[in-house]
Formats: sequence, C-alpha cells, structure tokens
Amino acid sequence: MSRVVVTGRIPDTAIEKLRAEHEVDAWSGPESIRRDELLRRVAGADAIVSLLTERVDAELLDAAGPQLKVVANVAVGYDNIDVPACVERGVVATNTPGVLTDATADIAFGLILMATRRLAEGERLIRSGQAWKWGMFFLLGSSLQGKTLGVVGMGGIGQATARRAKAFGMEIVYQSRSELDPTIAAELDARRVDLEELLSVSDVVSLHCPYGPATHHLIGAEQLATMKSSAFLVNTARGPIVDEDALATALREGSIAGAGLDVYEHEPRVHPGLLGLDNVALLPHLGSATVETRTAMAMLAADNALAVLSGERPPAAIS
Ligand code: DGY
Repeated sequence: MSRVVVTGRIPDTAIEKLRAEHEVDAWSGPESIRRDELLRRVAGADAIVSLLTERVDAELLDAAGPQLKVVANVAVGYDNIDVPACVERGVVATNTPGVLTDATADIAFGLILMATRRLAEGERLIRSGQAWKWGMFFLLGSSLQGKTLGVVGMGGIGQATARRAKAFGMEIVYQSRSELDPTIAAELDARRVDLEELLSVSDVVSLHCPYGPATHHLIGAEQLATMKSSAFLVNTARGPIVDEDALATALREGSIAGAGLDVYEHEPRVHPGLLGLDNVALLPHLGSATVETRTAMAMLAADNALAVLSGERPPAAIS
C-alpha cells in the first residue's frame, strides 16, 4: 500500500478509487492548503495528486522524498509543475487532457458571445436599476456570421472552439506549431497562418496555447496594435500569455473593440485597469467548471496516479 497526498478538494468518487488501493491523505479545508502545511504533509508520499493552485517545484518534490513516483495534476495545463525537476528526480508528471475540451470550448465561445454581443454589459445595466428601453442604437454589438475567428494553438480545445465558430458561420484561421490533420482542416475549412497574419485578419482572436517561457506575453502591445480596432480578444488558456497592462491600455484607448477573459496574469488578482472597463467580460477561471468535467478530471488524475503506483504507463503522462 502506497501513500497518496491530495493537495485540495476533489470529487469523492476519485478519492474512493484511490482509497480502494492506497492510504490517502486528502486536504479538505475550505481554503487552499498553506504551503508549510503542504510541505509537511507530502513527506513520505509515493504519489501527489495536485491542483493547479499548488506549486509543485523542487522544494516540494524534495520535501516528499526519494520514494515519490508520480505527480498527477488535476488539470490539463501544468504550468504549476516544474516538469524538469520531476524528470531529474525520476518522478512521472501527468495531466488530464481531453476530458475538459468541450467544457473549456463552451466557455471560450460563451466569452466570444459575451464580448461581441455585450451580454455582461446588458446584465449589469438591468441589475443597476437604470432606466432602459428598446432603441435602434441601444447596446449594439457585432455579429459573428461571416467574420473570422483566429485560433492561437490548435490542439483539442482550439479545434472544439473552431467547431463552435463554424456552426455560427465564422471562417477559421489558426496558428499552431504543427499543421492540422487534413481531415479536421477540411471539416473546419481552416487555414494555417503565422501569428502576425492571424492578428491582422481576425475579428475574434481566441487563445488556446499552453503557457511557458515561449508564450509569456505572446500578446503584448505590439500584437494588440496589429489587431483590427473592431476585433475582440478571448483568453481561456493562461493569464500570463497576455500582457494585461497592454491589454487594459488597448481596451481603454479603443485600439481593439473588446475582450473576454477567464484567466488572469496574476490570478486570482484581476488587473485594476480592467475592472472599470465595460468592453471586457470577466469570468473567474470557469473553463472546466462543470460537475461532469471536474469528476472526469479527478478520475483521470486518479487513474494516472494508480497506473504509475502499480508500475504501468499512465494514460496521460507529461514526462
Ligand atoms: C486546466 O485544466 O488547465 C484548466 O485551466 C482548469 O480549469
């Protein structure tokens, strides 16, 4: 029997699955676990099931000890994990791709609609109690039909977002490290372009690339200036892909029309320059937040941990 430490609350079904085979120490406090408490608890762990609110770095791996075999992140993004530090110590790192694709694409498309059709603005107006009535020019937004969606990062979530856009009558361009599978490219009628072209031709730019040194501030002042003044930026990937100072300036000065954000550069803090702007829709990192999706994510993380603990290849290894 091995010792599994779970760093935060996850659905009971996943805890039960782990408990059927191993001793499980799961943090169940209402707040995220404090770092000192986490460092203490991981000592002697064979597996860590981590949430993206916890940093899994050399300090934490060393606090666990040399018997640690696996870090199973309950997220597809793994910028909270120092993967080279895991590799150095022979620890397998895993994530949860696939199971949150549709949920995240739904939120990306929700933000596209919120931003282009000014949904949050309308909702705020009603709740504020201000007088309003139908008017020919009242809260006019932008239509999506016939417009171009630029997808940055055409993995599963980018493709699922493009599929939704296609159903709304949009054209698709994308920027990605690799060419799409020809069948999918034909289905989406999607054209691969470089980032500069994507930014200059798109009416909506949606970010779906992983975060790392290569994508830090991928969208900054220069890239925002390349976008059309009528265009919208949507980010459901990771906050630091966008330079939020530059975005707040572009939105305030009208150099782009609007934005929709689910993630933030210094999450959970939101840039104060964004909070007062009406042309940005703001969500609190809800991409994968459905009961079904979070359950599937936790079950996949449990399967990953269990596989490594029994000497098998995990379904979703990062390293
Ligand atoms: C992920 O899995 O990376 C998501 O951001 C979690 O919602």
